[in-house]
This record gives sequence, structure tokens and C-alpha cells, in this order.
Amino acid sequence: MKRFLCFLLLILVPLFTPCIGYSDLEVLLKLKTSMYGRNGTGLEDWVASPASPTAHCYFSGVKCDEESRVVSLNVSFRYLPGPIPPEIGLLNKLVNLTLSSNNLTGEIPVEMAMLTSLRILKVSNNVFDRSFPGKITLGMAQLEVLDVYNNNFSGSLPTEIVSLKNLKHVHLGGNFFSGTIPEEYSEILSLEYLGLNGNALSGKIPSSLCLLKSKLLPLSSSCV
Ligand SMILES: *[C@@H]1O[C@H](CO)[C@@H](O)[C@H](O)[C@H]1NC(C)=O
Ligand SMILES: *[C@@H]1O[C@H](CO)[C@@H](O)[C@H](O)[C@H]1NC(C)=O
Ligand SMILES: *[C@@H]1O[C@H](CO)[C@@H](O)[C@H](O)[C@H]1NC(C)=O
Ligand SMILES: *[C@@H]1O[C@H](CO)[C@@H](O)[C@H](O)[C@H]1NC(C)=O
Ligand SMILES: *[C@@H]1O[C@H](CO)[C@@H](O)[C@H](O)[C@H]1NC(C)=O
Repeated sequence: MKRFLCFLLLILVPLFTPCIGYSDLEVLLKLKTSMYGRNGTGLEDWVASPASPTAHCYFSGVKCDEESRVVSLNVSFRYLPGPIPPEIGLLNKLVNLTLSSNNLTGEIPVEMAMLTSLRILKVSNNVFDRSFPGKITLGMAQLEVLDVYNNNFSGSLPTEIVSLKNLKHVHLGGNFFSGTIPEEYSEILSLEYLGLNGNALSGKIPSSLCLLKSKLLPLSSSCV
């Protein structure tokens, strides 16, 4: 019966219900399986314990709130050659998400748009590719740090981030982004750091951005 209910819920409200069949524990195990690929290392302690439905709160790199929902996930410097699975969107209480220096591959799943409590999103030093789906940030009103440094992202720079009022640190450098630097970036008044170095960008640095140059150190040498 429980299983049936859970199945129904999943159909009715896809991805929203951390129902009995799809707890944060199971989502993390899903993440592990996907990111490990055939050959990962470094999440050996992420194992289910039948005796404890809150076992995931003690996994390395995981922090939970009082309701055993995951609020912080920091998995860095492991070898994880697989992709981030779409189920990550179910961890919708996440505040800090750091998945850096893991050799993660594939695309950034659009389901990450459901992580609307995020303050820190770091996926630097991996090999993610395709374009960076800027629209996932639209609902992340609290976002302060967006760091995608040193991946294989291509296409144009994301413009959606200009609507984020708390954004302080943005690092998009070390990728294959092309096209021009969006003039709108100068509208992010909270911005303290903007890293764009090491891309395939063309054109000039918008003069409006240069006016902010005291805050945007890596760009300032190119503003004359
Ligand atoms: C597993 O990783 C090792 C070390 O990085 C590598 O030499 C080996 O080819 C990998 N095996 C597979 C099946 O990917
Ligand atoms: C998120 O990171 C910030 C800055 O490192 C820290 O102050 C805050 O306590 C973290 N929040 C959680 C829920 O871990
Ligand atoms: C994440 O974990 C790594 C080590 O695995 C550590 O160096 C880093 O400071 C941590 N970052 C945060 C934001 O807690
Ligand atoms: C990631 O891959 C690169 C190149 O294949 C390798 O040099 C590096 O050591 C890998 N990183 C980790 C954390 O295994
Ligand atoms: C990343 O992109 C570069 C340049 O296009 C390419 O040489 C490299 O093989 C790519 N790496 C991966 C892991 O896809």
C-alpha cells in the first residue's frame, strides 16, 4: 500500500514529494551511483543502513537540518567521473552545494532549478560540458556564490544571473564560453568578483562594467 501511495504521489507531483519511497537518503545513494560511474572513489562511507532512515546525515560531506533534510553537501577532491543525476533537484532544502574538483562529466541537470534555497553553488574544476543552463538560477533568489571555474562549458555567458540581488562572487573563467560579455552584468550591483578569464570571448568589455572595475579585479587590466 505504501509503495502504491508513493507511486501515485510521484505521478501527481513529480519531483516534489520526498515521500517514503524517495527520501534524501535515497537521493544521495542515487547521486553516488551516478557520479561514481564505473570507477569512482571517495564516497565509500555513503551506504544505506536499514536500521537508520537518517543514516545519510552522517555521510561524509553531508549536513542535515532537524528534520533530517540535507542542507549542505560538500563533495570535493574525489574521483567521480560520472554525471550529476536529475534527482539532485529533490534535495530542495540545500543551502550550500559544493561539488568541486571531482572530474564530474555531462550536463548540469535543469532539475537543479528546484534548489531555490541555494546560497552557494560551486562546481569548479570538473569537466561539465554543453552550455551552462542559466535559467536554473532564476529561482535562486538567495544565491551569493556561483563558481563554475575550469570546466568545459561553451555557448554564451548566462544572462539570467542579472536578476539575482544577492550575488557577490561569480566565476565563469576557464571554460569555452564564446560571444560577448553581457552589458547587463553591470546591473548586478551586489557583485564583488566577476571572473571571466580563459574563455573564448570576443568584443570589448562593456564600459558600464569598467565603471565597476574597482570591484571586479580580474577585468580591470583590460579596461583602459
Ligand atoms: C579507472 O580509473 C583508473 C585510474 O584513473 C584508470 O586507469 C582506469 O582506466 C579506469 N577504468 C575504467 C574502466 O574507466
Ligand atoms: C553555508 O556556507 C556559509 C559560508 O561558508 C556558512 O556560513 C553557512 O553556515 C553554511 N550553511 C549551511 C546550512 O551549511
Ligand atoms: C569542502 O570540503 C573540502 C575538503 O573535502 C574542503 O577543503 C573545503 O574547504 C570544503 N568547503 C566548504 C565550503 O565547506
Ligand atoms: C581528473 O582527470 C585528470 C585528467 O584525466 C587527472 O589528471 C586528475 O588527476 C583527475 N582528478 C582526480 C581528482 O582524480
Ligand atoms: C574539454 O574540451 C577540450 C577542448 O574542446 C577538449 O580538448 C577536451 O577533450 C574536453 N574534455 C573532456 C573531458 O571532454
